[in-house]
Amino acid sequence: MTDRIAQIRTEAEGAIAAAANTQTLEDVRIQYLGRKAELPNLLRSVAELPPNERAATGKAANEARKALEAAIEQRTEQLAAQELDQRLQRDRVDVTLPGDPPPQIGRLHLITQTRREIEDVFIGLGFNVAEGPEVETVYYNFDALNHAPTHPARLMSDTFYVAPTSDIFDPDTRLLRVHTSPMQVRAMESQPPPLYIIVPGRTYRPDNDATHTPQFHQVEGLAVDTDITLGDLQGTLLAFARAIFGEDRQVRLRPHFFPFTEPSVEVDVSCFNCTDGVMPDGSHCPLCRGSAWIEILGSGMVDPNVFEYVREYGYDPEQIQGFAFGMGIERIAMLKHGVPDLRMLYDNDVRFLEQFG
Ligand code: PHE
Repeated sequence: MTDRIAQIRTEAEGAIAAAANTQTLEDVRIQYLGRKAELPNLLRSVAELPPNERAATGKAANEARKALEAAIEQRTEQLAAQELDQRLQRDRVDVTLPGDPPPQIGRLHLITQTRREIEDVFIGLGFNVAEGPEVETVYYNFDALNHAPTHPARLMSDTFYVAPTSDIFDPDTRLLRVHTSPMQVRAMESQPPPLYIIVPGRTYRPDNDATHTPQFHQVEGLAVDTDITLGDLQGTLLAFARAIFGEDRQVRLRPHFFPFTEPSVEVDVSCFNCTDGVMPDGSHCPLCRGSAWIEILGSGMVDPNVFEYVREYGYDPEQIQGFAFGMGIERIAMLKHGVPDLRMLYDNDVRFLEQFG
């Protein structure tokens, strides 16, 4: 009987060593140590053996079982470590590879794209981006911007006042800002010169037609420093026009009027749709209407009267000068992309919006 036990043990040890993976090893365990296997059966039937064989057989069988259990345990550890290694090799992820780009499920609105484009140009020129409140006071929107009490923009028909409106001449009366210019004054109150900022944001006026929506967007610009001239304004806006509309652009300044700049100018950019107002086929250019120039914004040198409102913050009109400009983001976007009707920007027709970006 002990011979048979030795035989089983040798055979099983061979099988354990030969098992190539944990699954086969488990099969081997069941074959030699499972409930129906020969060795455990033998152990269970030791009591039925003749008394003189019991001790030796029992001892040998027990030893064999213990030895096999230990061998299996050891081999299991070996194989498990080996298999883990293989799995780690197989599943290796190169974390230095770029991630998959997320699928495009939307895009920035053309107005947002254009705002960011404008911001990038001026940030490149050394301007900072500032934002201000859309609900303003008469003081910042009109008074401190040198608007005479009789200025027509103050009328209820030209400005959205925030109810209840008792007195449209009270500096504290609230309104929806009609331009981003109030931030000129707020910015100067918050920091001394030199100051170079642009102010993108929403603005409001009671107009509604193909070229006006009650809510629209502007970008204000303000540069205050010593020795700032109209030439600086022109150079800055030339750089802007070229960045947005192409390297071949020119700008021209036309005299105009704004209450808060003196002198004031309207700025035109040379038309990028034609040559001198004429299309290749000889017809008049529809974009500039044959004039070769397109108006893009209003601007001028900051009026000393405006500086008087912020003199105490370090703005002495005898010491410093500034230029300011304000442009409509919608207008820039429409010109650049040939959008025929301003309202298309607000209809949210995906077929229109998808064409940009
Ligand atoms: N705020 C003016 C407008 O909305 C534009 C402007 C800004 C003009 C700054 C001059 C200087 O029309």
